[in-house]
Amino acid sequence: MTDNTVYLNGAYLPIEQASVSVMDRGFLFGDSVYEVIPVFGRNLLRLDQHLQRLKNSLTLASMQAPMSDAEWKQLFKTLLEKNPGEDRAIYLQVTRGVYPKRDLAIKPEHKATVFAMVIHVTPVPMAVLEKGLRTVTVDDFRWHACNIKSTSLIANVMLRQQASEAEVSDAILVRTGGEVTEGTASNVFIVRGGVIVTPPTSRHLLPGITRDLVLELAEQNAMPHEVRPVSLEELENADEIWLTGSIREIAPVLELNGKAVADGRPGPVWRKMIAIYQQHKQTLRNAGT
Ligand code: PDD
Repeated sequence: MTDNTVYLNGAYLPIEQASVSVMDRGFLFGDSVYEVIPVFGRNLLRLDQHLQRLKNSLTLASMQAPMSDAEWKQLFKTLLEKNPGEDRAIYLQVTRGVYPKRDLAIKPEHKATVFAMVIHVTPVPMAVLEKGLRTVTVDDFRWHACNIKSTSLIANVMLRQQASEAEVSDAILVRTGGEVTEGTASNVFIVRGGVIVTPPTSRHLLPGITRDLVLELAEQNAMPHEVRPVSLEELENADEIWLTGSIREIAPVLELNGKAVADGRPGPVWRKMIAIYQQHKQTLRNAGT
């Protein structure tokens, strides 16, 4: 199948033929970082920002960048040509590579493992988006390096499972002390008194590219917004709650801990923001190469 060609360590090959060693540190330790980059038409959304975040993750994890920006761009271009489509995303993963022995110590002479694939994304129709998300708050017991986009996602998996057990679609994470951080795979926004608020970047949350785009679109469209800590109490009393991410985009949260958020319907500020965001995407789709 032509739409299942992946990239692994210099080769483009069918996904069924792509395999890594059991000694790969990504497999043994989750010793690896990743990116998910949305693609509209032939255009990658905020590519430079994704590449910058990748470099930050690599640096924070004491890993060398295996390729330059120009080389990443060429890789993505080739991969997209081999996997045609409209709305897609690129998944990119860099592990610290294969060592002969299972050993935590870093040995820089080993080469990174580089893997990339195209994920097909089905745009969510407005009618479905409007149904919103039901959520619960859960204790954010993760480590203090959530700003690294690491594939060590067992904590996120466990927290998402708590949401599944509560029969809702996602969890909003709250640190001991009541600081709201993010979703299990998304950033969180609230709206209070017409002001859009999201927590500041820190070691406790991923600096989401969609988060930054939403803040930028708010600025450009004169929508009042603030970046400041959000408490559990504010979350519980918000007029609107949104979760944002590259695949999820901007989703309204309509229920929190069994109670409706405001009147339980998507709010007017979300309606305005999602329209602006969709317009931004359409501009990218129309932008050609
Ligand atoms: N996740 N916070 C966490 C923990 C995430 O995993 C993600 C995205 C985000 C939002 O970041 P961005 O807007 O750059 O996608 C925030 C990706 C999509 C994933 O793991 O699939």
